[in-house]
Amino acid sequence: MKPTEQLLNEILDEVRPLIGKGKVADYIPALAEVPANKLGIAVCYNDGEIIQAGDSEEDFSIQSISKALSLTLAMTLYQPDEIWQRVGKEPSGHAFNSMIQLELENGIPRNPFINAGALVVSDLLHSRLSAPQYRMLELVRDLAQNPHICYDKVVAASEMQHSDRNASIAYLMRSFGNFDNEVMPVLTNYFSYCALKMSCVDLAKTFSYLANKGLPLGAKKTIITQTQSKQMNALLATCGLYDGAGEFAYRVGMPGKSGVGGGIIAIVPGEMAIAVWSPELDPSGNSLAGTAALELLAERIGRSIF
Ligand code: DON
Repeated sequence: MKPTEQLLNEILDEVRPLIGKGKVADYIPALAEVPANKLGIAVCYNDGEIIQAGDSEEDFSIQSISKALSLTLAMTLYQPDEIWQRVGKEPSGHAFNSMIQLELENGIPRNPFINAGALVVSDLLHSRLSAPQYRMLELVRDLAQNPHICYDKVVAASEMQHSDRNASIAYLMRSFGNFDNEVMPVLTNYFSYCALKMSCVDLAKTFSYLANKGLPLGAKKTIITQTQSKQMNALLATCGLYDGAGEFAYRVGMPGKSGVGGGIIAIVPGEMAIAVWSPELDPSGNSLAGTAALELLAERIGRSIF
């Protein structure tokens, strides 16, 4: 069953009481200023139909959702081995910005979606592109069919001012020989990707390619192969929600990626991409009401990959 706008509105009404029970990310001060009562959802069908409700057209900071996009870009530039010898494909079971495993596992991050893994991917992009920030923006604008998408320079600068942990992660990997470029320029690019400003509608359209075997919305050519699209969805299902990945699989049952801006994207392969936004987070850093909305939606439309 296709969700209707009425169903999406009902779901938002049901999860709204959860607002106040989570915590807006404040370790990036600019994010702490976002009103906690924002709530939006958008669904993009593979035929291009969009169904939306709530604050679905308001821009927010996509944060770690960008890690799925930077990995996609890296997959178009590198052979699989060149990526997977530097970053693993296993869930970490630790917080997204933890350094514990990194030291024990010789500077090889568990997966591309924890901060360490995304920094390696950013390092890969830096090595092969003359203007990685520009290329990422171009990619995202094409996928979302929205030429107005841009980086939020205030959020990026705010994160740079509080970058000690990410810088430490990058320097630790460099000490193990798993970081090729100077740390600071790569960090600057990584923070820009995280600071992309997009709405639920933009995100649902952007991630349509993962619901459609690598074919972006309105495109004639795939951006990644069908096999790579399957691999991305597998990684999202197992690692996209960090140490909350098991809980998310149990409750929602779709490949997904969260960000500390409160956004989550979820994929129903062959059918649709979904984006939700509610800024308050659970202890794993995933949107509290957003997860609940996806859980209700999955249940009401009878969709899950399991
Ligand atoms: O590097 C960071 O800590 C942030 N820019 C992104 C973290 C994030 O979004 C984790 N997701 N839930």
